[in-house]
Amino acid sequence: MITTTTSLIIQFHYLIVFFLVLTLLNSHVTMSRRLFESPCTKETHEKWMEQYGKVYKDAEEKERRFQIFKNNVEYIKSFNSVGDKGFKLSVNRFADLTVEEFKASLNGRLQKSGWPEAAAELETTSFRHENVTDIPKTMDWRKRGVVTPIKDQGRCASCWAFSTVAAIESFHKITTGKLVSLSEQELVDCVRGDTEGCIGGYVEDAFRFIVKKGGIASESVYPYKGVDKTCKANENKTKEHSVAKIKGFENVPSNNEKALLKAVAKQPVSVYIQAGGHDFQFYSSGVFNGKCGTEPDHVVTVVGYGKDKDDTKYWILKNSWGIEWGEKGYMRIKRDILDKKGLCGLANNASYPIM
Ligand SMILES: *[C@@H]1O[C@H](CO)[C@@H](O)[C@H](O)[C@H]1NC(C)=O
Ligand SMILES: *[C@@H]1O[C@H](CO)[C@@H](O)[C@H](O)[C@H]1NC(C)=O
Ligand SMILES: *[C@@H]1O[C@H](CO)[C@@H](O)[C@H](O)[C@H]1NC(C)=O
Repeated sequence: MITTTTSLIIQFHYLIVFFLVLTLLNSHVTMSRRLFESPCTKETHEKWMEQYGKVYKDAEEKERRFQIFKNNVEYIKSFNSVGDKGFKLSVNRFADLTVEEFKASLNGRLQKSGWPEAAAELETTSFRHENVTDIPKTMDWRKRGVVTPIKDQGRCASCWAFSTVAAIESFHKITTGKLVSLSEQELVDCVRGDTEGCIGGYVEDAFRFIVKKGGIASESVYPYKGVDKTCKANENKTKEHSVAKIKGFENVPSNNEKALLKAVAKQPVSVYIQAGGHDFQFYSSGVFNGKCGTEPDHVVTVVGYGKDKDDTKYWILKNSWGIEWGEKGYMRIKRDILDKKGLCGLANNASYPIM
């Protein structure tokens, strides 16, 4: 009797907690819906500032940011309301940045220098996935448990480190069975060559560094700070400081989505893309087919491919802008387009680690 009563009370408690969570979730959804539907006012901007912890230096700056915010909100609203474009935009943490500012915050090294000799130097001319024939119709490496949760590069242009790490984490899991979150900060602090930490850089430099060092530190012993720090790569010699050894990397033949498919059927792949555009900035769901050029300014990782219910083919990109951007941090982007470079140039420069 006593036990039944106790368990009833416990169940009742669970129920209350459950409803509380539901109510909280609901009010959050209503709030963000209101953010979209009501006309964009200073109050909306202030709510948004609060949500993202934004502080401006003075009233003048706040007014300037409000105007940009308003323009962006209007762009997003009109984009979403006109026809079905296959993907949607939403207000996110980039909403008070002009598209030029947003672009400038991406991989600066890449935008300034393009392909310096060392970065452009091909490691090998071989492409080990060339003769792959067992290509599944769809592939989602997340479902195979080889992809770590979405990370956030913050205000540091370290996308190149996140893309390198994502490709290696998955490769390490595929080859050894162990999924270990790895250190982007070690790469930010220690990789040299054409790469410059939070200013921007190249996955090629990062791969070379890891080969030379004989592994990369785990995230837990060398956590992410999002600012340039002094290199601590050789300070400690424990196993945790050099996990995930690789022998080198290879490039996928340029401008060839068929070749990219063979590679992604075998392992996640790092790709350079152009992300500095309005549609990319505010992408929230669907298969991205928006405006973008093919001059790379960002690096991400392809972690799969598929086809949606309208038979639109897509790639699955793992980004490093937190889980709030896109589809919980990921983007589905149109695959097999006419332009050989791929949408946003994603097939132009792709590479993957090898053992
Ligand atoms: C990347 O693409 C550019 C432009 O097509 C090319 O010049 C460069 O050599 C490529 N780099 C690599 C590593 O493939
Ligand atoms: C792919 O097959 C061709 C023809 O058999 C062969 O010459 C080439 O070495 C193979 N490539 C790889 C990476 O195994
Ligand atoms: C190396 O070990 C020392 C002493 O345990 C510690 O203070 C330091 O943070 C470690 N460095 C790294 C990169 O983990």
